[in-house]
Amino acid sequence: MAKVLLLNGSPHANGCTATALKEMLPVFEAEGIETELIHVGNQDIRGCISCQSCMKTGKCVFNDLVNEVAPKFEAADGLIVGSPVYYASPNGTILSFMDRLFYSTHFSKHMKVGATVVSARRGGNTATFDVLNKYFTISGMLIASSTSWHQVHGFTAEDVKKDLEGLQTMRNLARNMSFMIKAFADAKEKNGLPEVERGAFTSFPDGK
Ligand SMILES: Cc1cc2nc3c(=O)[nH]c(=O)nc-3n(C[C@H](O)[C@H](O)[C@H](O)COP(=O)(O)O)c2cc1C
Repeated sequence: MAKVLLLNGSPHANGCTATALKEMLPVFEAEGIETELIHVGNQDIRGCISCQSCMKTGKCVFNDLVNEVAPKFEAADGLIVGSPVYYASPNGTILSFMDRLFYSTHFSKHMKVGATVVSARRGGNTATFDVLNKYFTISGMLIASSTSWHQVHGFTAEDVKKDLEGLQTMRNLARNMSFMIKAFADAKEKNGLPEVERGAFTSFPDGK
């Protein structure tokens, strides 16, 4: 059975971001896709220290939720990252989590489906959206889209429940993501994954 992981970067288990993410769960269920909603934002997640230990071990030197989620991510077909907007950016906890999750894991993320969902009271949504989508595009993942910006507006969960277009966008996102996951599974079975070239690691303009 296909599986989607949903990360709630907010410290609030039942806040605005959670309300947006939870709007997608019945859609995935109806599509026959398993889900797991993981609360990241209430954890003490420190930032990456660039120790490069993960290059040898394939896991983060800090043995916390990042290492717990890593095998789940490997097994999942899709990843949705949800974040409240803090000063027009993702919140610090989810950024630290995503840096460490993506840097420390070396399994193929090729053709997994990614999506970002953001929650703001007023603004900074699209800047936040851009930052989080970049984890997917640098990893060979495909990004699901919807009928509008993947955002809800509110200061409380009750506000978000009144953002009918925001919630509709979440449901459509879950439908599109389900379609992509199923279509990619068929395509992988029929054609395999596209070839990936590796080896070049250019850090300077002269290639040295
Ligand atoms: C430190 C901090 C910074 C914030 N910065 C912004 C901001 O730049 N733009 C905005 O619209 N809301 C901002 N907010 C409000 C939250 O993004 C907004 O209320 C969000 O919907 C809360 O989601 P949650 O209930 O899932 O935590 C900020 C909140 C905090 C705590």
